[in-house]
Amino acid sequence: MRAVLVAGNWKMHGSLAANQALLDALKARLGSRDGIGYAVCSPFPYLYQVATSLAGSAISWGAQNLSEHDVGAYTGEVSGAMLREFGCRYVIVGHSERRGLYGETDQQVAAKFMAAQRAGLTPILCVGETLEQRDRGDTQAVVGRQLEAVLNSAGVSAIENAAIAYEPVWAIGTGKTATPAQAQGAHEYIRGLVAGRDKSLAAGLSILYGGSVKPDNARELFAMPDVDGGLIGGAALVADDFVAICEAGATH
Ligand code: 13P
Repeated sequence: MRAVLVAGNWKMHGSLAANQALLDALKARLGSRDGIGYAVCSPFPYLYQVATSLAGSAISWGAQNLSEHDVGAYTGEVSGAMLREFGCRYVIVGHSERRGLYGETDQQVAAKFMAAQRAGLTPILCVGETLEQRDRGDTQAVVGRQLEAVLNSAGVSAIENAAIAYEPVWAIGTGKTATPAQAQGAHEYIRGLVAGRDKSLAAGLSILYGGSVKPDNARELFAMPDVDGGLIGGAALVADDFVAICEAGATH
C-alpha cells in the first residue's frame, strides 16, 4: 500500500505565539498511525521552532522552498544542506505561487528538486494548471510538461524519494475544490506518465491533492484510488481543520 501524506503549507503566515498554539494542538492530537504521515511546512524563520516543538512527535516538518545551489554567493537564499542539518525532512518545490509570482521555470524547479535530493531531503513537487489552461483543454499538457522537466533532468529513479502534489491553480485559496473525479483524472494521468518510465516506482508514488481541501471535502477526495493525501493551505492554520483532514487521510 502507498504511504498517505497530509502536509500543511503555512505559506507566509504565522507568529511565534500562533505557531506554538497550533503545534501544541497538533502534537496532542496526531499520534503515529500506520500508513499515514503528517507534516507541516513553515516559513524559514520558524523552522527551528517547528523542529524543536515537534521533536519526538508523529509529525514531520519541511520548508516551502530552497535554493537550487548548494553553497555560495546567493544573498537571501537557503540551501538544502542548511535545512537538512537540523532535521528537515520535506521541501516543497515548484509551488504555483513560486512559479507564478516569482517566475520559477520548469528548469529551475527541476534544479531545486535535484538540490533537495542531493541534501537528503524529500521534495514535494507541485504541478497544476491555471483555469485558462483547463478551459482550453490543456491540463494534461501543462501537468505533463511540468513533471517531465523533472523526470528528464533527475531521471525516473528520483521519484522513489519524492512526492508529487497536484494543485490546480484555480482551486488554491479560492474555495473552489477540484471534484473527486477531476482530481482522480489528473492523478491517474500523473501516475501513468511515471509508469511509462517505471511501473513499480509509479505504483509506490504518493500523489497528493492540494487546492481548498477542507474537513468537509477531504474524505471524498482521499477516497479516490490515486489520491494519496493532501497538501493543505488555509485549513492547515486551524488545528481542528487540519486534524480532521488528517483523520480523513487515515481512512484512505
Ligand atoms: P489552499 O488549501 O489554501 O487552497 O492552498 C493549497 C495550497 O496551495 C497548498 O500548497
